[in-house]
Amino acid sequence: MAEVTMDKIVSLCKRRGFIFQSSEIYGGLNGAYDYGPLGVQLKNNIRDAWWKEMIQLHDNIVGLDASILMHPRVWEASGHVSNFTDPMVDCKQCKSRFRADQIDLNAPCPVCGNKGTFTAPRNFNLMFATHIGADVDAASTIYLRPETAQGIYVDFKNVVSSSRVKVPFGIAQVGKSFRNEITTKNFIFRSCEFEQMEMQWFCKPGTDEQWFPYWREQRMNFYVNRIGIHPEHLRWHQHGPDELAFYAKDAFDIQFLFPMGWQELEGVHSRTDYDLTQHQKFSGKDMTYLDPETNEKYIPYVVETSAGLTRNVLMALSDAYDEEVVAEGDIRTVLHFHPSIAPVTVAVLPLVKKDGLAEYASKLEHELRDDFATYYDQSGAIGRRYRRQDEIGTPYCVTVDYDTMNDNTVTLRFRDSMEQVRVPVSELVATIKKATKDYKRV
Ligand code: GAP
Repeated sequence: MAEVTMDKIVSLCKRRGFIFQSSEIYGGLNGAYDYGPLGVQLKNNIRDAWWKEMIQLHDNIVGLDASILMHPRVWEASGHVSNFTDPMVDCKQCKSRFRADQIDLNAPCPVCGNKGTFTAPRNFNLMFATHIGADVDAASTIYLRPETAQGIYVDFKNVVSSSRVKVPFGIAQVGKSFRNEITTKNFIFRSCEFEQMEMQWFCKPGTDEQWFPYWREQRMNFYVNRIGIHPEHLRWHQHGPDELAFYAKDAFDIQFLFPMGWQELEGVHSRTDYDLTQHQKFSGKDMTYLDPETNEKYIPYVVETSAGLTRNVLMALSDAYDEEVVAEGDIRTVLHFHPSIAPVTVAVLPLVKKDGLAEYASKLEHELRDDFATYYDQSGAIGRRYRRQDEIGTPYCVTVDYDTMNDNTVTLRFRDSMEQVRVPVSELVATIKKATKDYKRV
């Protein structure tokens, strides 16, 4: 296995249209990225796998799509206005800004090299403020949401009264979040605009202790079994007393071995009744739940699963990336995506363009579209076309050749093993579906 570096991932992402720097022709914007044709497909596939896992395959979880812009009091209640800060220092010489906890304040400035020039640390709020309406005054200040979770808390009562859900139940949501991050290196790992996949599990106080390990197990299984991540690239990190939010009972991060080392991928948090209680206090509205069977009234406790979708994309790319020595001096770059998240599932390739092969292949590609994300490629030598598909992680290539014209069979090539088998066209869809179901990560 070749060493996976961030430079290699960034270069492949740009070369093959997964991810671009935002506003690149203007010099780029720090902390913002555009997902190209393959990147958006990969991201959507991971999002859909998460949505299916949480909503379709679990009992009692419903979806929500809350707005990004919310009443400013939401963020006072949640504690983000007063506490969602990083300590920052500025270099007095070059004006560069750093997180005080990430640099050595006695060392020279990493940008201009001057010594002893840092300001005292100041707290800097990570929320992006903007204005709503025509007046630009303090009363019109609102924030881009820094997490999707608060939309779920604020709509808790609406969901209970409209969906007939009963505690314990969950509300799941995927969407954009924004944080004015100063340290935005490491590509899409930490960006100012990103996407989260969050689920709040509302349960009876006391039962949270049983749900917390349940959700931890579910979430780890998701990465190994559904996204196909190497289990040895995943581990747990329990928050110590100085990492734990003051209201949290417990918190574990799922960490992934990114190219720059072990880092957080998802948090599973036991958040008690803190958020709902805060919203009850700040809004003056009743946030209690009335148990229809026992008539007990209480504010539910919450176990939260909070994953970064864009960070999941970086994980999927890093875990899948490989450079394999095929023969002496011949290295193939390959992304071993699980077939269920690969941006293209099946590429259809005519061996040559002439003698009706291209027309046959093109027709077949159209027929496969109903079942798979497909791609048609007729240009260049067949070996090069296979390599192009390997590099974007396409798990199956179907080649139409002269035999196809006589007996309606095609060559099915598997990305990981490069094995080729002959399959009747009539059995192609079923064969690919079975291979996807039985897929084992190399
Ligand atoms: N509601 C809880 C919450 O937002 P968090 O640990 O701050 O918790 C959850 O964020 C997840 O969101 C992280 O594990 C990470 O995957 C993702 N995330 C957070 N900040 C991010 C950023 N600036 N860029 C990309 N992903 C980020």
